[in-house]
Amino acid sequence: MKHLMDITDLTTMQIDELIMTANDIIVNPMKYQDICIRKKLATLFFEPSTRTRLSFEAAMIELGGSVLGFSTSDSSSSAKGESVTDTVQTVGYYADIIAMRHPKEGAPLAASKRTTVPIINAGDGGHSHPTQTLADLLTIQREKGRLSNMTVGFCGDLKFGRTVHSLINALSRYEGIEYVFISPKELVIPDYVKANILDRNNIRYIETANMDEYMPKLDILYMTRVQRERFFNEADYVRLKDSYILTPDRLICAKKDLSIMHPLPRVNEISVKVDDDPRACYFKQVNNGKYIRMALILMLLDISV
Ligand code: NCD
Repeated sequence: MKHLMDITDLTTMQIDELIMTANDIIVNPMKYQDICIRKKLATLFFEPSTRTRLSFEAAMIELGGSVLGFSTSDSSSSAKGESVTDTVQTVGYYADIIAMRHPKEGAPLAASKRTTVPIINAGDGGHSHPTQTLADLLTIQREKGRLSNMTVGFCGDLKFGRTVHSLINALSRYEGIEYVFISPKELVIPDYVKANILDRNNIRYIETANMDEYMPKLDILYMTRVQRERFFNEADYVRLKDSYILTPDRLICAKKDLSIMHPLPRVNEISVKVDDDPRACYFKQVNNGKYIRMALILMLLDISV
């Protein structure tokens, strides 16, 4: 594997290896602190980000490497009309590995054809976000001790939420996974996800607009933000944005070992009152995101301890 465009680029064995390395980094950080010395990571973010970009940068710094890049397209030559592929080809002469986010689906894939250095898709439009999925998988594995035999609820914007699409794609390869998809009818899971992943693998799922009905069955509840930037009109966003708000009351009937996840940023969909609930895992996800990106950088640069 040279680039990471989609979670399907990774075999189950490679995912297990990344999780194992991340867990080892968590326990033995000193072992890894100089391993990427003189290596450079470029972060090219044509769309806003806090966690993904900074965790990539923190990851490379903690491996002993350095970082360069830009965090908005208007501070790069893209504002002068340069194509994404020309920008990436250019950066390929300066950096050893590139993490790139872009609002256009498939932009990182197009860019990967024009450079010899590994490109990591750090989110392309509403399509896919494989490194968030790796952070999610590491979190599930650490919380539950397994990636199989679970009922996973996804709630919110299941149409435009790229983290949802990538995580469904990844989890569906494990045994005994069932889904409950909770969304307003305007934001249901896209047909291509149903056809290519769920139906093709005979995976059981329920679609509902009611957040409370299946709460007692869930092992994981993955909340999401309504993706304002992907809407064609603001009125629709305003109408749908507060469709689901998770409060302590709604969790009364949930399992004692439920894991509440969210890729963040949250807007309104999880009340801050839930943050002190021991079942809240969303800030653990943030922390795990750095370690799994460290493991991924090592894998793509073919560096081992
Ligand atoms: C997500 C994204 O960018 O898709 N955030 C992230 O990377 N942690 C989710 C979101 O923006 O809602």
